[in-house]
Amino acid sequence: MAIDARPRLWFNLALGLFLCASARASDMKAQEVFPGVWKVRFGSPEKLTPLTFRSAQPREMGLNAKASAPQLPFKLKDIHFQKSARGCSVEVPMGHDEKVYGLGLSTSNFELSGHQAWVVPSDHPEEDSNESHAPEPFYVSSAGYGIYVDTARYALFSIGNQYKQGKDHPRTIHADIPSVKGVDVYVFAGPTALDAVQRYNLFSGGGAVPPMWGLGIAYRGKGDFSAKNAIDLAKTFRDDNMPCDIFGIEPGWQTQTYSCSFLWNKARFPDPQSFIDQMHSMGYRMSFWEHPFTHPSSPIHEALAPFSGSHLVWNGLVPDFATPQARKIFLGQQNESLFSKGVDSLKIDEVDSQPFKSDRWSFPDSAAFPSGLDGEQMHSLFGELSQQTMWQPYREKNLRTWGLVRNSHALAAPLPYSIYSDTYDHRCFVRGLAKSGFGGHLWTPEVRDAKTVEDLIRRVQTVIFSPYAMVNCWYMKLPPWQQIDADKASRDEIMPESAEATRLVRSMFQLRMSLIPYLYSAFNKYNRLGTPTVRAMVLDYPNDPELASVDDQFMFGSSMMVAPMFAGQSKRSVTFPKGDWYDFFTHEKIKGGRKIEITKKLDQLPLYVKSGTILPLASPVGHVAQGTQFELSVVAFGENPRDFTLYEDDGETYNFEKGEQNQVTLSIKNGEGSIKRSGSFKAVRYSIKNWTLVP
Ligand code: GAL
Repeated sequence: MAIDARPRLWFNLALGLFLCASARASDMKAQEVFPGVWKVRFGSPEKLTPLTFRSAQPREMGLNAKASAPQLPFKLKDIHFQKSARGCSVEVPMGHDEKVYGLGLSTSNFELSGHQAWVVPSDHPEEDSNESHAPEPFYVSSAGYGIYVDTARYALFSIGNQYKQGKDHPRTIHADIPSVKGVDVYVFAGPTALDAVQRYNLFSGGGAVPPMWGLGIAYRGKGDFSAKNAIDLAKTFRDDNMPCDIFGIEPGWQTQTYSCSFLWNKARFPDPQSFIDQMHSMGYRMSFWEHPFTHPSSPIHEALAPFSGSHLVWNGLVPDFATPQARKIFLGQQNESLFSKGVDSLKIDEVDSQPFKSDRWSFPDSAAFPSGLDGEQMHSLFGELSQQTMWQPYREKNLRTWGLVRNSHALAAPLPYSIYSDTYDHRCFVRGLAKSGFGGHLWTPEVRDAKTVEDLIRRVQTVIFSPYAMVNCWYMKLPPWQQIDADKASRDEIMPESAEATRLVRSMFQLRMSLIPYLYSAFNKYNRLGTPTVRAMVLDYPNDPELASVDDQFMFGSSMMVAPMFAGQSKRSVTFPKGDWYDFFTHEKIKGGRKIEITKKLDQLPLYVKSGTILPLASPVGHVAQGTQFELSVVAFGENPRDFTLYEDDGETYNFEKGEQNQVTLSIKNGEGSIKRSGSFKAVRYSIKNWTLVP
C-alpha cells in the first residue's frame, strides 16, 4: 500500500508545481492600448525589449481611424503562459485550417503552419530554419489577427506542431522565449490579416516615407573605386541616358576597413568635398558604406571604448548604440567625415551575425554591453539601433534619407532603410519581397553579376519592383549591362551582347522612373495607414485559397501585380485573383479567378493592373532633382475606375508631417478625366499630359 501511494503523491506534487507555473489569472494582465490592439502581460517581463528602443511613437490617428468593433478569433484568456528554469513559453490557440505568415525575412519559407521557426538574426536567410536579416517576433494569421511578442531573445516558434495533453486547444502556436520570467504579448485585431499588419505598422509608428530621389535607381561602384573611377562612370550614365539617382561608394573610401577607421583614404579620394560636390552637380545622391565596428586607428576609438561591448569584431569596438554616449561619439566622427560634406545616405553593413556557421565573425551571445544588454539581445537590436543612430542627423537637419542595412527586427516600419543580402538566389529574393509586407520591412533583391544576359534582365525586372532599385557592383568594375562576368569586367572586357543588354536594362529603369509618382503614393499610404507597399497576394485576397501559398507573385502598391520570371523560363504560370486584370504592356484584358500560363519575351515581364485602377505614369526622368516636375500620362483601366490620390510635397524634408503636402486627386467621370488639388504645399509637381481610357 505504502509503495503504491508514493508515485501518486509525487504525481500530485508535480501537477501542483506545474499548475503553479502555468499562467493564473493574476499572472496575466490584459489592456486594450489602442482600438483593436491589446497588450497582454504575463509574469515579469525584462526591462530591455524592442519596445524600449522603439523608433517612433504609435500613429494614433491611423490607429483610431481603424476602430470599427475589432474582433478576435479567440479570447485573450485562452492565451497560455508557462514559466520554467529555461525561460517562458506562450501558447496561442490555432484553428485547424489556420495559416500563419511572418516571423521575419527568411527567404526560404512562406506559409508557416506545421513549421518550426527560429527568430534569430543571421546573414543566411536561405536556410529553412527561419533565421534572417530581419528576425521579427510578429506573425499574422489567416484567422485575421496578428501577434507580437516583445522580446529581443532568440525565440523559437512552433506553429501547429506541438500538442499538449487535454482537449481544450489541441493545436497551438507555441513560442519558447529563453531567459525571461515574463513577456508582453501584443495582439492586433483584423478582421483580415492585412488589417492586423496595418495596425502593427501604425503601432510601430507608421511606414517610412522616402525622399523622392530614393525611388530612382541606385548603383554602387566597385569596392576599390577612386573618386576618378566613380566620377568617370557616373558621367557615362548621364551620357548614355541610363537613369540613376543614388551612387554608392563601397569600403575603399576609408583608410581602414573590417573594422572601420571612418577616415578618408586620400590616395583614392584626395579631396572628398570636391568629389561629393561634383557628384551632386551631376544630380547624384551619395551613399557611403560602413559598418559600426571601430578600428584602433579611428580617432574615436579611445573615447568609444567605455561605451562599447566586451568583445571585438574584426579587432574593432562594437559601439553600444543603446547608450547616448556611444551615439554621440560615433556621430561626431560621422559628421566630420560624411554628414558635414553633404552625404545623403549610408549603407550599414554586417550588423547581423552568422550564428549557425562554423566561421562565425560576430560577438558572442554572452557579450556584455554598458547599457545592460547582453550579446543575444544586442544581436537582435544592433541593426535597429544602428539605423536609429544614423537616421538621427538627417532628422535633425529636417532631411529625409534612404539607406541600406543588413539587419533589422521588430517595429521597424518607420526606419528609412532597406534590407539587403549577400545571398543571391533570384527565387528566394522574390519570396523575400512577398514576405517583407508581413512585417514592417523593406527588402531589395539587388542585382550584381549574372550567369546570362537573360538572368541579368530577369533580375533587373524584379529589383525595379522593390522599395530600393539597386545594382550593387561592389565586386564589378563594369556595370553588368556591359559585362555580366566579374572576372571579365575586371579586365575591361565588354561583352558582345552589351548593346542589347544596355537597351533592355535602360527600358526597365525607365519603367521604374515612370512609376515613381504611383510608388510615392503607396509609401504615403504606408505612412498613414500602415499598408505595406510591396506585399504577398494573400494579404489582398485572403479569401482565395489559390493565393494562400503564392510566394512568386506579389502586389506592388494596391493596383499592380508582379509575377517575375526567372532565367531559363520561357513561360510561367500566374495565379490571377478574381476580377478583371489588364496586361500592363499590351492592355490585353484578362478574366481573373484562374491560373494562366504566360509567355513573355525578355523585353517584358508578367505585370498586371487591376481593373478599376487609375494609373499615373510619369515621363521618365534621368534622376529626381529638387523640385522635378512629373509629366503624367494617366491610364484608366476598366469600368468606373476609383479615384487615385497623388501626394505632392518637396520630396526632401519632413515638412509634409506638418501638413505641407497636397493631395492631388485624379478622377474619371463619364469618360472625362479631372484633377483636384487640396492642401497648402505651394509648388506644382505633377502636370497631366494625357488621359487614356482602357475599357
Ligand atoms: C558585404 C556586403 C556587400 C558589400 C561588401 C563590401 O558585407 O554585403 O554588399 O558591401 O560587404 O566589402
